[in-house]
Amino acid sequence: MVKAALLTVEEPASLEFAESLATELDVNLYVLTRKIFPDGESYIRLPSEVLDKNVVVLVYSMVPPQDKSIFEILLSVDALKSKGIDKVVLVAPYMAYSRQDREFLENEGVSIRTLLRTLRLIGVDSLYTIEIHKRESLRYFGEEAYSISPYRFMAERLRLSNDVLVLAPDLGAVERAKEFAQAINASYDYLVKKRDPITGDITLEPKRVSVEGEEVVIVDDIISTGGTIAKAARMLLDQGAKSIRVVAAHALMVGNALEKIENAGVSRVYAANTLPKIESGLIEYIDVAPIVANALRSTLLYP
Ligand code: R5P
Repeated sequence: MVKAALLTVEEPASLEFAESLATELDVNLYVLTRKIFPDGESYIRLPSEVLDKNVVVLVYSMVPPQDKSIFEILLSVDALKSKGIDKVVLVAPYMAYSRQDREFLENEGVSIRTLLRTLRLIGVDSLYTIEIHKRESLRYFGEEAYSISPYRFMAERLRLSNDVLVLAPDLGAVERAKEFAQAINASYDYLVKKRDPITGDITLEPKRVSVEGEEVVIVDDIISTGGTIAKAARMLLDQGAKSIRVVAAHALMVGNALEKIENAGVSRVYAANTLPKIESGLIEYIDVAPIVANALRSTLLYP
Protein backbone atom coordinates (compact mmCIF):
# COMPACT_ATOMS: atom_id res chain seq x y z
CA MET A 1 0.00 0.00 0.00
CA VAL A 2 1.28 3.48 -0.87
CA LYS A 3 1.70 5.64 2.20
CA ALA A 4 2.30 9.22 1.11
CA ALA A 5 2.74 12.61 2.75
CA LEU A 6 3.27 16.19 1.75
CA LEU A 7 6.14 18.05 3.36
CA THR A 8 7.02 21.73 3.17
CA VAL A 9 8.88 24.53 4.88
CA GLU A 10 7.90 27.64 6.85
CA GLU A 11 8.45 29.96 3.88
CA PRO A 12 5.37 31.85 2.71
CA ALA A 13 5.29 30.92 -0.99
CA SER A 14 6.09 27.24 -0.43
CA LEU A 15 3.79 26.92 2.57
CA GLU A 16 0.83 28.51 0.83
CA PHE A 17 1.36 26.41 -2.28
CA ALA A 18 1.68 23.24 -0.20
CA GLU A 19 -1.47 24.04 1.80
CA SER A 20 -3.43 24.45 -1.38
CA LEU A 21 -1.96 21.21 -2.78
CA ALA A 22 -2.82 19.36 0.44
CA THR A 23 -6.43 20.57 0.20
CA GLU A 24 -6.66 19.54 -3.46
CA LEU A 25 -5.21 16.09 -2.79
CA ASP A 26 -6.88 15.71 0.61
CA VAL A 27 -3.68 14.56 2.34
CA ASN A 28 -1.83 15.60 5.47
CA LEU A 29 0.79 18.29 5.25
CA TYR A 30 3.84 18.36 7.51
CA VAL A 31 6.27 21.23 7.98
CA LEU A 32 9.95 20.61 8.52
CA THR A 33 11.92 22.46 11.18
CA ARG A 34 14.31 24.97 9.76
CA LYS A 35 16.87 27.19 11.47
CA ILE A 36 19.70 29.41 10.44
CA PHE A 37 22.87 29.19 12.54
CA PRO A 38 24.53 32.47 13.62
CA ASP A 39 27.06 32.13 10.81
CA GLY A 40 24.28 31.90 8.24
CA GLU A 41 24.34 28.14 7.62
CA SER A 42 21.06 26.27 7.26
CA TYR A 43 19.71 23.47 9.45
CA ILE A 44 16.67 21.32 8.78
CA ARG A 45 14.99 18.53 10.73
CA LEU A 46 12.34 16.19 9.36
CA PRO A 47 9.06 15.70 11.21
CA SER A 48 8.92 12.10 12.49
CA GLU A 49 5.45 11.64 10.96
CA VAL A 50 6.86 11.39 7.42
CA LEU A 51 9.38 8.68 8.22
CA ASP A 52 7.05 5.69 7.84
CA LYS A 53 5.87 6.84 4.40
CA ASN A 54 7.08 5.38 1.14
CA VAL A 55 6.34 8.51 -0.91
CA VAL A 56 7.15 12.01 0.33
CA VAL A 57 6.27 15.02 -1.79
CA LEU A 58 8.47 17.94 -0.78
CA VAL A 59 6.99 21.31 -1.78
CA TYR A 60 9.77 23.86 -1.84
CA SER A 61 9.93 26.82 -4.20
CA MET A 62 13.38 28.15 -5.13
CA VAL A 63 12.62 31.62 -3.84
CA PRO A 64 15.33 34.31 -3.49
CA PRO A 65 17.95 33.94 -2.14
CA GLN A 66 17.86 31.04 -4.59
CA ASP A 67 21.12 29.41 -3.49
CA LYS A 68 19.83 29.18 0.08
CA SER A 69 16.54 27.60 -1.02
CA ILE A 70 18.38 25.15 -3.25
CA PHE A 71 20.76 24.09 -0.49
CA GLU A 72 17.85 23.55 1.91
CA ILE A 73 16.11 21.42 -0.72
CA LEU A 74 19.29 19.33 -1.04
CA LEU A 75 19.53 18.98 2.74
CA SER A 76 15.89 17.89 2.98
CA VAL A 77 16.04 15.41 0.11
CA ASP A 78 19.26 13.89 1.41
CA ALA A 79 17.73 13.54 4.87
CA LEU A 80 14.61 11.86 3.42
CA LYS A 81 16.65 9.44 1.33
CA SER A 82 18.93 8.63 4.26
CA LYS A 83 15.86 7.67 6.26
CA GLY A 84 14.88 5.16 3.59
CA ILE A 85 11.98 6.97 1.91
CA ASP A 86 11.45 5.02 -1.34
CA LYS A 87 10.25 7.86 -3.50
CA VAL A 88 11.04 11.53 -2.97
CA VAL A 89 9.07 13.87 -5.20
CA LEU A 90 10.09 17.51 -5.41
CA VAL A 91 7.48 20.12 -6.27
CA ALA A 92 9.44 23.32 -6.91
CA PRO A 93 6.87 25.83 -8.20
CA TYR A 94 9.68 28.20 -9.22
CA MET A 95 12.75 26.59 -10.78
CA ALA A 96 15.65 28.98 -10.30
CA TYR A 97 18.59 29.23 -12.70
CA SER A 98 16.49 28.11 -15.66
CA ARG A 99 17.47 31.02 -17.89
CA GLN A 100 21.15 30.02 -18.07
CA ASP A 101 20.29 26.94 -20.10
CA ARG A 102 23.27 26.92 -22.45
CA GLU A 103 26.67 28.50 -23.04
CA PHE A 104 25.75 31.92 -24.37
CA LEU A 105 29.47 32.71 -24.30
CA GLU A 106 32.05 30.00 -24.69
CA ASN A 107 33.02 28.14 -21.49
CA GLU A 108 30.18 29.47 -19.32
CA GLY A 109 28.63 27.33 -16.62
CA VAL A 110 25.19 26.00 -17.58
CA SER A 111 23.34 26.61 -14.34
CA ILE A 112 20.17 24.67 -14.99
CA ARG A 113 22.22 21.61 -16.01
CA THR A 114 24.18 21.77 -12.76
CA LEU A 115 21.02 22.23 -10.72
CA LEU A 116 18.98 19.46 -12.32
CA ARG A 117 21.84 16.96 -12.30
CA THR A 118 22.45 17.73 -8.62
CA LEU A 119 18.81 17.26 -7.70
CA ARG A 120 18.80 13.86 -9.42
CA LEU A 121 22.10 12.81 -7.82
CA ILE A 122 21.00 13.73 -4.30
CA GLY A 123 17.92 11.53 -4.65
CA VAL A 124 14.96 13.40 -6.14
CA ASP A 125 13.00 10.68 -7.97
CA SER A 126 10.37 12.89 -9.62
CA LEU A 127 10.37 16.60 -10.23
CA TYR A 128 7.44 18.95 -10.87
CA THR A 129 7.73 22.64 -11.60
CA ILE A 130 5.62 25.38 -13.09
CA GLU A 131 6.81 26.59 -16.49
CA ILE A 132 10.56 26.10 -16.56
CA HIS A 133 12.11 28.66 -18.90
CA LYS A 134 12.94 26.00 -21.53
CA ARG A 135 11.26 22.63 -21.35
CA GLU A 136 14.24 20.96 -23.07
CA SER A 137 16.32 21.64 -19.94
CA LEU A 138 14.44 18.87 -18.16
CA ARG A 139 16.61 16.34 -20.00
CA TYR A 140 19.36 17.16 -17.51
CA PHE A 141 17.22 15.61 -14.80
CA GLY A 142 16.18 12.60 -16.87
CA GLU A 143 12.90 10.73 -16.59
CA GLU A 144 10.02 11.89 -14.41
CA ALA A 145 10.64 15.62 -14.75
CA TYR A 146 7.55 17.67 -15.53
CA SER A 147 7.12 21.36 -16.31
CA ILE A 148 3.48 22.33 -16.06
CA SER A 149 2.32 25.23 -18.16
CA PRO A 150 -0.09 27.51 -16.23
CA TYR A 151 -1.43 29.79 -18.98
CA ARG A 152 -4.58 27.90 -19.96
CA PHE A 153 -5.53 27.51 -16.31
CA MET A 154 -4.80 31.19 -15.59
CA ALA A 155 -6.86 32.26 -18.61
CA GLU A 156 -9.78 30.15 -17.45
CA ARG A 157 -9.57 31.57 -13.95
CA LEU A 158 -9.32 35.18 -15.18
CA ARG A 159 -12.27 34.91 -17.58
CA LEU A 160 -11.05 37.84 -19.68
CA SER A 161 -13.16 38.78 -22.68
CA ASN A 162 -11.89 37.41 -25.98
CA ASP A 163 -11.74 40.96 -27.26
CA VAL A 164 -8.07 41.28 -26.27
CA LEU A 165 -4.84 40.92 -28.22
CA VAL A 166 -2.43 38.51 -26.56
CA LEU A 167 1.24 39.21 -27.22
CA ALA A 168 4.46 37.40 -26.44
CA PRO A 169 7.50 39.65 -25.87
CA ASP A 170 9.48 37.60 -28.41
CA LEU A 171 9.20 34.63 -30.74
CA GLY A 172 10.58 32.30 -28.06
CA ALA A 173 7.55 32.99 -25.87
CA VAL A 174 4.91 32.73 -28.58
CA GLU A 175 3.66 29.29 -27.43
CA ARG A 176 2.85 30.88 -24.08
CA ALA A 177 0.78 33.62 -25.70
CA LYS A 178 -0.88 31.08 -27.98
CA GLU A 179 -1.91 28.85 -25.08
CA PHE A 180 -3.39 31.79 -23.18
CA ALA A 181 -5.14 33.19 -26.26
CA GLN A 182 -6.61 29.89 -27.37
CA ALA A 183 -8.14 29.32 -23.95
CA ILE A 184 -10.25 32.45 -24.40
CA ASN A 185 -10.55 32.44 -28.21
CA ALA A 186 -8.50 35.60 -28.57
CA SER A 187 -5.93 36.59 -31.19
CA TYR A 188 -2.23 36.38 -30.49
CA ASP A 189 1.04 37.54 -31.95
CA TYR A 190 4.61 38.18 -30.83
CA LEU A 191 6.83 41.24 -30.73
CA VAL A 192 9.78 41.73 -33.01
CA LYS A 193 12.52 44.34 -32.87
CA LYS A 194 12.40 46.72 -35.80
CA ARG A 195 15.17 49.16 -36.63
CA ASP A 196 14.38 52.49 -38.28
CA PRO A 197 16.61 52.51 -41.38
CA ILE A 198 17.25 56.23 -41.05
CA THR A 199 17.59 56.93 -37.33
CA GLY A 200 18.67 53.44 -36.31
CA ASP A 201 16.15 53.55 -33.44
CA ILE A 202 14.80 50.21 -32.30
CA THR A 203 11.10 49.66 -31.66
CA LEU A 204 9.18 46.60 -30.57
CA GLU A 205 6.19 45.88 -32.78
CA PRO A 206 3.85 42.94 -33.22
CA LYS A 207 4.93 40.75 -36.13
CA ARG A 208 1.58 40.61 -37.94
CA VAL A 209 -1.02 42.91 -36.41
CA SER A 210 -1.54 46.48 -35.28
CA VAL A 211 -2.14 47.33 -31.63
CA GLU A 212 -4.11 50.51 -32.42
CA GLY A 213 -7.10 50.61 -30.05
CA GLU A 214 -6.35 47.10 -28.70
CA GLU A 215 -6.56 45.89 -25.12
CA VAL A 216 -3.24 44.08 -24.97
CA VAL A 217 -2.30 41.20 -22.68
CA ILE A 218 1.43 40.41 -22.64
CA VAL A 219 2.23 36.84 -21.61
CA ASP A 220 5.71 35.92 -20.37
CA ASP A 221 7.26 33.31 -18.09
CA ILE A 222 9.36 35.45 -15.73
CA ILE A 223 9.27 39.07 -14.68
CA SER A 224 12.64 39.76 -13.12
CA THR A 225 13.80 43.39 -13.32
CA GLY A 226 10.64 44.34 -15.23
CA GLY A 227 12.77 45.77 -18.06
CA THR A 228 11.30 43.58 -20.82
CA ILE A 229 7.69 44.30 -19.87
CA ALA A 230 8.22 48.03 -19.21
CA LYS A 231 9.87 48.52 -22.58
CA ALA A 232 7.20 46.57 -24.44
CA ALA A 233 4.37 48.37 -22.63
CA ARG A 234 5.74 51.83 -23.40
CA MET A 235 6.19 51.04 -27.06
CA LEU A 236 2.77 49.45 -27.46
CA LEU A 237 1.05 52.39 -25.77
CA ASP A 238 2.96 54.74 -28.09
CA GLN A 239 1.67 52.68 -31.01
CA GLY A 240 -1.92 53.30 -29.85
CA ALA A 241 -2.72 50.32 -27.62
CA LYS A 242 -5.70 51.11 -25.38
CA SER A 243 -4.41 49.27 -22.33
CA ILE A 244 -1.71 46.81 -21.27
CA ARG A 245 -2.12 43.95 -18.86
CA VAL A 246 0.49 41.30 -18.13
CA VAL A 247 0.32 37.59 -17.31
CA ALA A 248 3.40 35.90 -15.85
CA ALA A 249 4.17 32.50 -14.40
CA HIS A 250 6.84 33.84 -12.05
CA ALA A 251 6.78 37.38 -10.66
CA LEU A 252 10.27 37.71 -9.17
CA MET A 253 9.94 41.51 -9.24
CA VAL A 254 13.54 42.33 -8.41
CA GLY A 255 14.11 45.77 -6.87
CA ASN A 256 11.70 48.37 -8.18
CA ALA A 257 10.39 46.16 -11.01
CA LEU A 258 6.74 46.63 -10.09
CA GLU A 259 7.09 50.42 -9.96
CA LYS A 260 8.89 50.36 -13.30
CA ILE A 261 6.07 48.37 -14.84
CA GLU A 262 3.42 50.64 -13.36
CA ASN A 263 5.24 53.77 -14.58
CA ALA A 264 5.36 52.26 -18.06
CA GLY A 265 1.55 52.25 -18.07
CA VAL A 266 0.70 48.62 -17.26
CA SER A 267 -2.71 48.54 -15.59
CA ARG A 268 -2.63 45.02 -14.11
CA VAL A 269 -0.25 42.11 -13.57
CA TYR A 270 -1.61 38.59 -13.09
CA ALA A 271 0.96 36.18 -11.67
CA ALA A 272 0.92 32.54 -10.60
CA ASN A 273 1.60 31.96 -6.89
CA THR A 274 5.06 30.43 -7.31
CA LEU A 275 7.02 33.13 -5.46
CA PRO A 276 6.53 35.33 -2.40
CA LYS A 277 3.65 37.76 -2.86
CA ILE A 278 4.06 41.50 -3.09
CA GLU A 279 1.40 43.69 -1.53
CA SER A 280 0.22 45.95 -4.33
CA GLY A 281 -3.03 46.87 -6.00
CA LEU A 282 -1.30 46.33 -9.35
CA ILE A 283 -0.66 42.62 -8.96
CA GLU A 284 -3.13 39.79 -8.55
CA TYR A 285 -2.06 36.21 -7.82
CA ILE A 286 -3.66 33.08 -9.16
CA ASP A 287 -3.33 29.85 -7.21
CA VAL A 288 -2.01 27.25 -9.67
CA ALA A 289 -1.60 24.41 -7.15
CA PRO A 290 -4.64 22.63 -8.68
CA ILE A 291 -2.73 21.98 -11.93
CA VAL A 292 0.14 20.44 -9.98
CA ALA A 293 -2.37 18.31 -8.05
CA ASN A 294 -3.76 17.05 -11.38
CA ALA A 295 -0.28 16.28 -12.65
CA LEU A 296 0.60 14.39 -9.46
CA ARG A 297 -2.63 12.41 -9.71
CA SER A 298 -2.13 11.45 -13.32
CA THR A 299 1.60 10.71 -13.27
CA LEU A 300 2.21 9.30 -9.81
CA LEU A 301 -1.14 7.59 -9.28
CA TYR A 302 -0.97 9.32 -5.94
CA PRO A 303 -2.61 9.69 -3.62
C1 R5P B 1 13.57 36.00 -21.11
O1 R5P B 1 13.93 35.15 -21.92
C2 R5P B 1 12.45 35.74 -20.16
O2 R5P B 1 11.42 35.02 -20.77
C3 R5P B 1 11.90 37.03 -19.59
O3 R5P B 1 11.36 37.82 -20.64
C4 R5P B 1 12.98 37.82 -18.90
O4 R5P B 1 13.67 36.98 -18.03
C5 R5P B 1 12.42 38.99 -18.15
O5 R5P B 1 13.45 39.63 -17.47
P1 R5P B 1 13.34 41.15 -17.04
O6 R5P B 1 12.05 41.30 -16.25
O7 R5P B 1 14.56 41.39 -16.19
O8 R5P B 1 13.33 41.97 -18.27
